Amino acid sequence: MSPNDLLLVSKQFENPLYVYDSHKIESQYNRLKNAFSKVENLRINYAMKALSNISILKLFKNLDSGLDTVSIQEVKLGILSGFLPHKIIYTPNGVSFEEIEEVAHLGVQINIDNLSILEHFGTKYPQIPVCIRINPHVMAGGNQNISVGHIDSKFGISIYQIPHVLRIVENTKMNINGIHMHTGSDILDIEVFLYAAEILFDTAKNFKNLDFLDFGSGFKVPYKKDDIETNIEELGRKLSKRFLSFQKEYGRELTLAFEPGKFLVSEAGYFLAKVNVVKQTTSTVFAGIDSGFNHLIRPMLYGSQHSIENISNPKGKERFYTVVGYICETDTFANNRRIAEITEGDILCFKNAGAYCFSMASNYNSRYKPAEVLWKNGKGYLIRNRETIDDILKNQTLIEV
Ligand SMILES: Cc1ncc(COP(=O)(O)O)c(C=O)c1O
Repeated sequence: MSPNDLLLVSKQFENPLYVYDSHKIESQYNRLKNAFSKVENLRINYAMKALSNISILKLFKNLDSGLDTVSIQEVKLGILSGFLPHKIIYTPNGVSFEEIEEVAHLGVQINIDNLSILEHFGTKYPQIPVCIRINPHVMAGGNQNISVGHIDSKFGISIYQIPHVLRIVENTKMNINGIHMHTGSDILDIEVFLYAAEILFDTAKNFKNLDFLDFGSGFKVPYKKDDIETNIEELGRKLSKRFLSFQKEYGRELTLAFEPGKFLVSEAGYFLAKVNVVKQTTSTVFAGIDSGFNHLIRPMLYGSQHSIENISNPKGKERFYTVVGYICETDTFANNRRIAEITEGDILCFKNAGAYCFSMASNYNSRYKPAEVLWKNGKGYLIRNRETIDDILKNQTLIEV
Protein backbone atom coordinates (compact mmCIF):
# COMPACT_ATOMS: atom_id res chain seq x y z
CA MET A 1 0.00 0.00 0.00
CA SER A 2 1.28 3.49 -0.79
CA PRO A 3 1.35 6.35 1.77
CA ASN A 4 -1.39 7.98 -0.33
CA ASP A 5 -3.63 4.91 -0.03
CA LEU A 6 -3.06 4.99 3.71
CA LEU A 7 -3.91 8.68 3.98
CA LEU A 8 -7.07 8.07 2.00
CA VAL A 9 -8.15 5.23 4.29
CA SER A 10 -7.27 7.32 7.34
CA LYS A 11 -9.53 10.15 6.11
CA GLN A 12 -12.34 7.77 5.25
CA PHE A 13 -12.37 5.69 8.46
CA GLU A 14 -10.69 8.09 10.92
CA ASN A 15 -8.02 7.25 13.47
CA PRO A 16 -6.60 5.37 15.29
CA LEU A 17 -6.95 2.68 12.68
CA TYR A 18 -5.48 -0.69 11.76
CA VAL A 19 -5.21 -1.35 8.03
CA TYR A 20 -4.31 -4.72 6.47
CA ASP A 21 -3.20 -5.21 2.90
CA SER A 22 -4.81 -8.44 1.62
CA HIS A 23 -2.40 -8.64 -1.29
CA LYS A 24 0.62 -8.79 1.03
CA ILE A 25 -1.00 -11.55 3.12
CA GLU A 26 -1.65 -13.59 -0.01
CA SER A 27 1.85 -13.07 -1.36
CA GLN A 28 3.47 -14.15 1.94
CA TYR A 29 1.27 -17.26 2.00
CA ASN A 30 2.25 -18.14 -1.57
CA ARG A 31 5.91 -17.41 -0.87
CA LEU A 32 5.95 -19.98 1.93
CA LYS A 33 4.03 -22.48 -0.19
CA ASN A 34 6.45 -22.05 -3.09
CA ALA A 35 9.48 -22.43 -0.83
CA PHE A 36 8.23 -25.92 0.04
CA SER A 37 6.83 -26.80 -3.38
CA LYS A 38 8.85 -30.05 -3.47
CA VAL A 39 6.86 -31.40 -0.53
CA GLU A 40 3.65 -32.94 -1.80
CA ASN A 41 1.75 -32.79 1.48
CA LEU A 42 2.34 -29.33 2.86
CA ARG A 43 0.00 -27.79 5.37
CA ILE A 44 0.18 -24.15 6.44
CA ASN A 45 -1.86 -23.51 9.58
CA TYR A 46 -2.21 -19.77 10.09
CA ALA A 47 -1.52 -18.92 13.78
CA MET A 48 -4.62 -16.82 14.34
CA LYS A 49 -3.39 -15.43 17.66
CA ALA A 50 -1.42 -12.97 15.52
CA LEU A 51 -4.53 -11.37 14.03
CA SER A 52 -7.92 -12.91 14.59
CA ASN A 53 -10.46 -10.73 12.80
CA ILE A 54 -12.97 -13.08 11.14
CA SER A 55 -12.53 -11.41 7.73
CA ILE A 56 -8.79 -12.14 7.92
CA LEU A 57 -9.61 -15.73 8.87
CA LYS A 58 -11.90 -15.99 5.87
CA LEU A 59 -9.15 -14.69 3.63
CA PHE A 60 -6.90 -17.53 4.88
CA LYS A 61 -9.70 -20.04 4.47
CA ASN A 62 -10.05 -18.98 0.84
CA LEU A 63 -6.32 -19.57 0.37
CA ASP A 64 -6.96 -23.16 1.55
CA SER A 65 -4.92 -22.54 4.70
CA GLY A 66 -5.39 -24.51 7.89
CA LEU A 67 -5.66 -22.79 11.26
CA ASP A 68 -3.54 -22.92 14.41
CA THR A 69 -5.48 -22.12 17.59
CA VAL A 70 -4.74 -21.93 21.31
CA SER A 71 -8.16 -21.53 22.91
CA ILE A 72 -11.71 -22.79 22.52
CA GLN A 73 -12.69 -19.23 21.58
CA GLU A 74 -10.18 -19.21 18.71
CA VAL A 75 -11.51 -22.60 17.58
CA LYS A 76 -15.07 -21.23 17.59
CA LEU A 77 -14.05 -18.14 15.62
CA GLY A 78 -12.28 -20.39 13.10
CA ILE A 79 -15.34 -22.56 12.61
CA LEU A 80 -17.55 -19.47 12.37
CA SER A 81 -15.29 -18.15 9.63
CA GLY A 82 -15.79 -21.31 7.60
CA PHE A 83 -12.87 -23.57 8.57
CA LEU A 84 -13.74 -27.25 8.71
CA PRO A 85 -12.75 -28.71 12.11
CA HIS A 86 -10.23 -31.11 10.56
CA LYS A 87 -8.34 -28.08 9.14
CA ILE A 88 -7.81 -26.72 12.66
CA ILE A 89 -5.11 -27.68 15.14
CA TYR A 90 -5.47 -26.75 18.80
CA THR A 91 -2.26 -26.27 20.79
CA PRO A 92 -3.22 -25.10 24.27
CA ASN A 93 -0.99 -24.66 27.27
CA GLY A 94 -2.26 -24.84 30.83
CA VAL A 95 -5.97 -25.02 29.93
CA SER A 96 -8.54 -27.21 31.67
CA PHE A 97 -9.14 -30.81 30.65
CA GLU A 98 -12.78 -29.90 30.01
CA GLU A 99 -11.76 -27.32 27.40
CA ILE A 100 -9.60 -29.89 25.60
CA GLU A 101 -12.51 -32.37 25.64
CA GLU A 102 -14.86 -29.74 24.21
CA VAL A 103 -12.47 -28.96 21.36
CA ALA A 104 -11.87 -32.66 20.64
CA HIS A 105 -15.62 -33.22 20.39
CA LEU A 106 -15.78 -30.54 17.69
CA GLY A 107 -13.50 -32.74 15.55
CA VAL A 108 -10.45 -30.49 15.81
CA GLN A 109 -6.90 -31.94 15.92
CA ILE A 110 -5.69 -31.88 19.52
CA ASN A 111 -2.06 -31.15 20.37
CA ILE A 112 -1.07 -32.01 23.95
CA ASP A 113 1.99 -30.64 25.74
CA ASN A 114 1.69 -32.17 29.17
CA LEU A 115 2.13 -35.74 30.46
CA SER A 116 -0.75 -35.73 32.94
CA ILE A 117 -3.23 -34.43 30.34
CA LEU A 118 -1.90 -36.94 27.81
CA GLU A 119 -2.51 -39.82 30.20
CA HIS A 120 -5.95 -38.56 31.20
CA PHE A 121 -6.99 -37.95 27.57
CA GLY A 122 -5.58 -41.26 26.31
CA THR A 123 -7.35 -43.21 29.04
CA LYS A 124 -10.71 -41.55 28.38
CA TYR A 125 -10.53 -41.22 24.57
CA PRO A 126 -8.07 -43.79 23.19
CA GLN A 127 -9.85 -43.62 19.82
CA ILE A 128 -9.20 -39.86 19.28
CA PRO A 129 -5.85 -39.25 17.54
CA VAL A 130 -3.56 -36.84 19.35
CA CYS A 131 -0.50 -34.85 18.38
CA ILE A 132 2.18 -34.25 21.00
CA ARG A 133 4.13 -31.06 21.39
CA ILE A 134 7.71 -31.75 22.35
CA ASN A 135 10.14 -29.38 23.99
CA PRO A 136 13.36 -29.86 22.00
CA HIS A 137 15.44 -27.85 24.50
CA VAL A 138 16.70 -25.41 21.94
CA MET A 139 17.24 -21.77 22.79
CA ALA A 140 15.77 -19.81 19.89
CA GLY A 141 13.63 -16.72 19.50
CA GLY A 142 13.98 -12.97 19.50
CA ASN A 143 13.50 -12.39 23.23
CA GLN A 144 12.82 -14.16 26.54
CA ASN A 145 9.03 -14.05 26.22
CA ILE A 146 8.94 -15.55 22.77
CA SER A 147 11.66 -18.19 23.28
CA VAL A 148 9.51 -21.15 24.16
CA GLY A 149 11.52 -24.29 23.37
CA HIS A 150 14.31 -24.05 25.94
CA ILE A 151 14.77 -26.26 28.99
CA ASP A 152 13.10 -23.87 31.46
CA SER A 153 10.09 -23.21 29.25
CA LYS A 154 6.59 -24.19 30.36
CA PHE A 155 5.80 -25.39 26.83
CA GLY A 156 5.96 -28.90 25.44
CA ILE A 157 6.92 -32.31 26.77
CA SER A 158 10.65 -32.63 27.33
CA ILE A 159 12.41 -34.87 24.84
CA TYR A 160 13.89 -36.60 27.91
CA GLN A 161 10.36 -37.63 28.86
CA ILE A 162 9.66 -39.50 25.61
CA PRO A 163 10.05 -42.91 27.37
CA HIS A 164 7.25 -41.80 29.69
CA VAL A 165 5.10 -40.76 26.69
CA LEU A 166 5.70 -44.18 25.13
CA ARG A 167 4.57 -45.91 28.32
CA ILE A 168 1.36 -43.85 28.33
CA VAL A 169 0.73 -44.72 24.68
CA GLU A 170 1.38 -48.39 25.34
CA ASN A 171 -0.88 -48.52 28.40
CA THR A 172 -3.79 -46.51 26.98
CA LYS A 173 -3.52 -47.76 23.38
CA MET A 174 -3.99 -44.18 22.24
CA ASN A 175 -3.04 -43.10 18.74
CA ILE A 176 -0.34 -40.44 18.30
CA ASN A 177 -0.79 -39.05 14.78
CA GLY A 178 1.51 -36.00 14.88
CA ILE A 179 4.63 -34.57 16.51
CA HIS A 180 4.92 -30.83 16.97
CA MET A 181 7.44 -28.29 18.16
CA HIS A 182 7.61 -24.51 18.25
CA THR A 183 10.88 -23.13 19.49
CA GLY A 184 10.11 -19.43 19.46
CA SER A 185 9.41 -16.39 17.36
CA ASP A 186 11.88 -14.21 15.43
CA ILE A 187 14.45 -16.93 14.82
CA LEU A 188 17.43 -15.37 13.10
CA ASP A 189 19.41 -18.41 12.09
CA ILE A 190 17.92 -21.21 9.99
CA GLU A 191 20.66 -23.58 11.19
CA VAL A 192 19.02 -23.44 14.64
CA PHE A 193 15.75 -24.32 13.01
CA LEU A 194 17.30 -27.23 11.13
CA TYR A 195 19.03 -28.44 14.30
CA ALA A 196 15.69 -28.49 16.15
CA ALA A 197 14.11 -30.27 13.17
CA GLU A 198 16.60 -33.14 13.63
CA ILE A 199 15.37 -33.53 17.20
CA LEU A 200 11.82 -33.72 15.89
CA PHE A 201 12.79 -36.37 13.33
CA ASP A 202 14.53 -38.41 16.04
CA THR A 203 11.46 -38.21 18.24
CA ALA A 204 9.14 -39.11 15.38
CA LYS A 205 10.93 -42.46 14.89
CA ASN A 206 9.40 -43.64 18.17
CA PHE A 207 5.85 -43.41 16.82
CA LYS A 208 4.62 -45.72 14.09
CA ASN A 209 1.31 -44.14 13.00
CA LEU A 210 2.19 -40.53 12.34
CA ASP A 211 0.32 -38.54 9.72
CA PHE A 212 2.14 -35.25 10.13
CA LEU A 213 5.19 -33.46 11.51
CA ASP A 214 4.55 -29.90 12.62
CA PHE A 215 7.58 -27.62 12.75
CA GLY A 216 5.74 -24.70 14.35
CA SER A 217 6.95 -21.30 13.29
CA GLY A 218 9.25 -18.51 14.37
CA PHE A 219 10.14 -17.01 11.01
CA LYS A 220 11.58 -13.53 11.39
CA VAL A 221 10.32 -10.72 9.19
CA PRO A 222 12.20 -7.45 8.57
CA TYR A 223 11.21 -4.44 10.69
CA LYS A 224 13.32 -1.89 8.91
CA LYS A 225 15.42 -1.48 5.78
CA ASP A 226 18.24 -4.07 5.62
CA ASP A 227 16.90 -5.87 8.71
CA ILE A 228 17.57 -9.62 9.01
CA GLU A 229 14.76 -11.91 7.92
CA THR A 230 14.48 -15.69 7.89
CA ASN A 231 15.61 -16.94 4.52
CA ILE A 232 12.44 -18.91 3.78
CA GLU A 233 13.64 -20.04 0.36
CA GLU A 234 16.86 -21.50 1.77
CA LEU A 235 14.98 -23.10 4.65
CA GLY A 236 12.49 -24.50 2.12
CA ARG A 237 15.27 -26.07 0.06
CA LYS A 238 17.13 -27.57 3.00
CA LEU A 239 14.21 -28.72 5.13
CA SER A 240 12.22 -30.13 2.19
CA LYS A 241 15.17 -32.29 1.18
CA ARG A 242 15.66 -33.56 4.71
CA PHE A 243 11.92 -34.09 5.21
CA LEU A 244 11.61 -36.15 2.03
CA SER A 245 14.54 -38.34 3.00
CA PHE A 246 13.08 -38.81 6.48
CA GLN A 247 9.72 -39.74 4.96
CA LYS A 248 11.39 -42.48 2.90
CA GLU A 249 13.15 -43.82 5.96
CA TYR A 250 9.92 -43.66 7.98
CA GLY A 251 8.13 -45.66 5.30
CA ARG A 252 4.87 -43.77 5.28
CA GLU A 253 3.52 -40.57 3.69
CA LEU A 254 3.68 -37.63 6.02
CA THR A 255 2.39 -34.08 5.92
CA LEU A 256 4.83 -31.29 6.70
CA ALA A 257 3.05 -28.61 8.71
CA PHE A 258 3.92 -25.06 9.76
CA GLU A 259 1.98 -22.55 11.80
CA PRO A 260 3.23 -19.04 11.11
CA GLY A 261 1.58 -15.91 12.38
CA LYS A 262 4.05 -13.07 12.02
CA PHE A 263 5.42 -14.20 8.65
CA LEU A 264 1.95 -14.13 7.12
CA VAL A 265 0.49 -10.93 8.53
CA SER A 266 3.09 -8.70 10.18
CA GLU A 267 4.17 -6.70 7.14
CA ALA A 268 0.61 -6.50 5.79
CA GLY A 269 -0.45 -4.33 8.74
CA TYR A 270 -0.28 -0.55 9.28
CA PHE A 271 -1.34 1.31 12.38
CA LEU A 272 -2.41 4.92 11.81
CA ALA A 273 -2.66 7.46 14.60
CA LYS A 274 -3.06 11.22 14.71
CA VAL A 275 -0.55 13.43 16.51
CA ASN A 276 -2.36 15.25 19.32
CA VAL A 277 0.58 17.24 20.66
CA VAL A 278 4.14 18.12 19.84
CA LYS A 279 5.85 18.89 23.11
CA GLN A 280 9.29 20.38 23.32
CA THR A 281 10.96 19.88 26.71
CA THR A 282 14.45 20.90 27.73
CA SER A 283 15.85 17.64 26.37
CA THR A 284 13.36 16.03 24.03
CA VAL A 285 10.73 16.65 21.39
CA PHE A 286 7.77 14.41 22.13
CA ALA A 287 5.14 13.58 19.54
CA GLY A 288 2.10 12.52 21.56
CA ILE A 289 -0.35 10.44 19.55
CA ASP A 290 -4.02 9.67 19.92
CA SER A 291 -3.24 6.14 21.12
CA GLY A 292 -1.10 4.24 23.60
CA PHE A 293 -0.12 0.76 24.72
CA ASN A 294 -3.82 0.00 24.88
CA HIS A 295 -3.67 -0.22 21.07
CA LEU A 296 -0.10 -1.26 20.35
CA ILE A 297 1.77 -2.80 23.26
CA ARG A 298 4.64 -4.56 21.50
CA PRO A 299 7.21 -1.75 21.86
CA MET A 300 6.61 -1.64 25.64
CA LEU A 301 6.21 -5.41 26.12
CA TYR A 302 8.98 -6.68 23.89
CA GLY A 303 10.96 -3.59 22.96
CA SER A 304 9.77 -4.03 19.36
CA GLN A 305 11.01 -1.33 17.04
CA HIS A 306 8.19 -0.50 14.64
CA SER A 307 9.25 1.85 11.94
CA ILE A 308 7.22 5.08 12.01
CA GLU A 309 6.54 7.43 9.11
CA ASN A 310 4.82 10.77 8.98
CA ILE A 311 2.53 10.15 6.02
CA SER A 312 1.07 13.67 6.22
CA ASN A 313 4.45 15.22 5.48
CA PRO A 314 6.61 12.48 3.93
CA LYS A 315 9.03 14.91 2.29
CA GLY A 316 9.48 17.08 5.38
CA LYS A 317 12.92 17.67 6.88
CA GLU A 318 13.78 14.87 9.28
CA ARG A 319 14.00 15.65 12.99
CA PHE A 320 14.33 13.55 16.12
CA TYR A 321 11.13 12.69 17.98
CA THR A 322 10.21 10.50 20.90
CA VAL A 323 6.83 9.10 20.02
CA VAL A 324 4.60 8.51 23.04
CA GLY A 325 0.99 7.63 23.82
CA TYR A 326 -1.71 9.18 26.00
CA ILE A 327 -1.79 6.45 28.66
CA CYS A 328 -1.26 7.35 32.32
CA GLU A 329 1.96 5.35 32.39
CA THR A 330 5.09 5.74 30.32
CA ASP A 331 4.19 4.36 26.92
CA THR A 332 7.01 5.09 24.55
CA PHE A 333 6.67 3.78 21.01
CA ALA A 334 10.05 5.08 19.85
CA ASN A 335 12.94 7.01 21.39
CA ASN A 336 14.65 9.85 19.54
CA ARG A 337 13.54 8.50 16.18
CA ARG A 338 14.31 10.35 12.95
CA ILE A 339 10.92 11.23 11.41
CA ALA A 340 9.87 13.83 8.79
CA GLU A 341 8.88 17.06 10.58
CA ILE A 342 5.70 16.57 12.60
CA THR A 343 2.94 19.11 13.17
CA GLU A 344 -0.05 18.56 15.41
CA GLY A 345 -2.78 16.83 13.42
CA ASP A 346 -0.36 14.82 11.25
CA ILE A 347 -0.96 11.10 10.76
CA LEU A 348 1.82 8.74 11.80
CA CYS A 349 2.00 5.30 10.26
CA PHE A 350 3.47 2.36 12.22
CA LYS A 351 4.71 -0.47 10.02
CA ASN A 352 4.65 -4.22 10.75
CA ALA A 353 1.38 -3.72 12.58
CA GLY A 354 -0.33 -6.89 11.38
CA ALA A 355 0.85 -9.42 13.96
CA TYR A 356 0.25 -9.24 17.72
CA CYS A 357 -0.96 -5.65 17.52
CA PHE A 358 -4.74 -5.43 17.39
CA SER A 359 -4.97 -8.93 18.89
CA MET A 360 -3.20 -7.61 22.02
CA ALA A 361 -5.24 -4.39 22.22
CA SER A 362 -7.22 -3.60 25.38
CA ASN A 363 -9.61 -1.03 26.79
CA TYR A 364 -7.11 0.26 29.38
CA ASN A 365 -7.95 3.80 30.54
CA SER A 366 -11.48 2.97 29.27
CA ARG A 367 -10.40 3.84 25.75
CA TYR A 368 -12.05 2.35 22.69
CA LYS A 369 -10.20 -0.20 20.62
CA PRO A 370 -9.36 1.00 17.10
CA ALA A 371 -11.34 0.15 13.98
CA GLU A 372 -9.87 -2.29 11.43
CA VAL A 373 -9.88 -2.03 7.65
CA LEU A 374 -8.98 -4.60 5.00
CA TRP A 375 -7.48 -3.11 1.83
CA LYS A 376 -8.40 -5.18 -1.20
CA ASN A 377 -8.18 -4.34 -4.90
CA GLY A 378 -7.59 -0.65 -4.25
CA LYS A 379 -10.44 -0.24 -1.78
CA GLY A 380 -10.75 -0.20 2.00
CA TYR A 381 -13.40 -2.36 3.72
CA LEU A 382 -14.31 -1.81 7.34
CA ILE A 383 -13.89 -5.16 9.11
CA ARG A 384 -14.29 -3.91 12.68
CA ASN A 385 -16.29 -0.91 13.77
CA ARG A 386 -14.78 1.65 16.08
CA GLU A 387 -16.03 0.98 19.61
CA THR A 388 -18.45 3.21 21.45
CA ILE A 389 -19.25 3.74 25.11
CA ASP A 390 -21.79 0.90 24.79
CA ASP A 391 -18.95 -1.54 24.14
CA ILE A 392 -17.24 -0.44 27.33
CA LEU A 393 -20.45 -0.83 29.31
CA LYS A 394 -21.73 -3.99 27.60
CA ASN A 395 -20.98 -6.48 30.39
CA GLN A 396 -21.06 -4.15 33.36
CA THR A 397 -23.94 -3.87 35.82
CA LEU A 398 -24.73 -0.83 37.87
CA ILE A 399 -25.82 -2.00 41.32
CA GLU A 400 -27.08 -0.04 44.29
CA VAL A 401 -24.04 0.60 46.47
C1 LIG B 1 2.67 -22.73 19.34
C2 LIG B 1 2.86 -21.54 18.46
N1 LIG B 1 2.79 -21.70 17.13
C3 LIG B 1 2.94 -20.66 16.29
C4 LIG B 1 3.16 -19.38 16.75
C5 LIG B 1 3.32 -18.26 15.78
O1 LIG B 1 4.58 -17.72 15.83
P1 LIG B 1 5.03 -16.55 14.82
O2 LIG B 1 4.02 -15.48 14.92
O3 LIG B 1 6.38 -16.14 15.26
O4 LIG B 1 5.01 -17.13 13.47
C6 LIG B 1 3.26 -19.17 18.14
C7 LIG B 1 3.51 -17.82 18.67
O5 LIG B 1 3.40 -17.52 19.82
C8 LIG B 1 3.10 -20.28 19.01
O6 LIG B 1 3.17 -20.12 20.33
